Amino acid sequence: MTSADSGAHGASAAGTGGAGGSDPVHAGLVGWRQAAEAALYGPGGFYLRPEGPAGHFRTSVHASPLFAEAVARLLCRVDEALGHPAELAFVDMGAGRGELVTAVLKALPADVAPRARGYAVERAAPPRPAPGTQPDSADAAVPTWCTEPPHGVTGLLFANEWLDNVPVDVVETDAAGVPHRVLVRPDGTEALGDPVGAGPDARWLERWWPLASRPGLRAEIGRPRDAAWAAAVGSLRAGLAVAVDYLHVRAARPPYGTLTGFREGREVPPVPDGSCDITAHVALDACAAAGTGGAAGAGVRPEDHPRLVTQRAILQALGVRGARPPLSLAGTDPTAYVRALAAAGEAAELTARDGLGAFGWLMQPVAMPYPAGFPHLPPEHLPAEPPHRRP
Ligand SMILES: C[S@@+](CC[C@H](N)C(=O)[O-])C[C@H]1O[C@@H](n2cnc3c(N)ncnc32)[C@H](O)[C@@H]1O
Repeated sequence: MTSADSGAHGASAAGTGGAGGSDPVHAGLVGWRQAAEAALYGPGGFYLRPEGPAGHFRTSVHASPLFAEAVARLLCRVDEALGHPAELAFVDMGAGRGELVTAVLKALPADVAPRARGYAVERAAPPRPAPGTQPDSADAAVPTWCTEPPHGVTGLLFANEWLDNVPVDVVETDAAGVPHRVLVRPDGTEALGDPVGAGPDARWLERWWPLASRPGLRAEIGRPRDAAWAAAVGSLRAGLAVAVDYLHVRAARPPYGTLTGFREGREVPPVPDGSCDITAHVALDACAAAGTGGAAGAGVRPEDHPRLVTQRAILQALGVRGARPPLSLAGTDPTAYVRALAAAGEAAELTARDGLGAFGWLMQPVAMPYPAGFPHLPPEHLPAEPPHRRP
């Protein structure tokens, strides 16, 4: 962590809480959720920078066009399950610069493409086209930009590395093992605030991330992500909502939390001054429960409950495989061989067990059956220590 007055994982215990006010010891200190909100999305915020997320890290979207092609195949499976609706939405939630939605629309087969409508949902401003190059908004392959997901559409809502950027508060146990909210200054120095006490945050921790009564343990309160995910799922009239992210599950929460920063391809200490991304792994099991209204999903058949699977398993089910082409191809068609070899390398990266393949896919059907033949890995089979975002 970045705390100047703390150890590797620990805020100073001098705080009495609050957000600074006139107390010089706590001046400028706010909770991490508020600090990250301002640093990422406020004036001069990290995500408002012209270079966009891709200027600082690579997601699966940038790793290979095979990813968008697989998502396009998933959209076709959803289309089939929905009985080929007149308008089929693809909603790219947290779209960055719209790279995924644009590539998915282009990859659709001729019988689906004319019915498809793409939405790039992004709270940071979309890129401005150069004068004279304004795309034709009547073109089905051009997404509609919006800041909220469209309401009542039918299709696939896909959120790649969105939820980890929904800011959360951080708590840390004090010397007596009591959890306190962690406060932070814009330079990254931390102090302990008030005890979490009772209330919704305490209840969330108790249910999803219970902390032992030991000093120095940390947790991130995923409530804002649960709410964001539930709202995104609720925007679909029918279809499939998918959240892809680095995750942890209740059986194996990281004892010191996962809050971190990224800048120009490197993992850096999380400093909420707008100079770096601020991110934390996602409790996707909690989001799944929130997406079904907290219960197992009233009226939802058990086989259509949300599923949590690894990216490796689902991409393989969608035909992304890292097998090398036969050497004989090099003799008959060297160009095709080189192309196939490159694709195999990209597929291997997307499905690597200790890399992008270990990301979690939360798949939540809404008024449609879960696509037949898709994998279901119970959470205990998910990797205990999934990787961070790759530079
Ligand atoms: C890590 S980037 C991922 C970009 C892209 N999905 C990808 O995989 O390359 C997260 C994006 O989510 C956007 N975002 C965060 N909260 C959002 C919200 N509530 N609504 C829309 N976009 C949001 C951020 O501005 C950022 O562009």
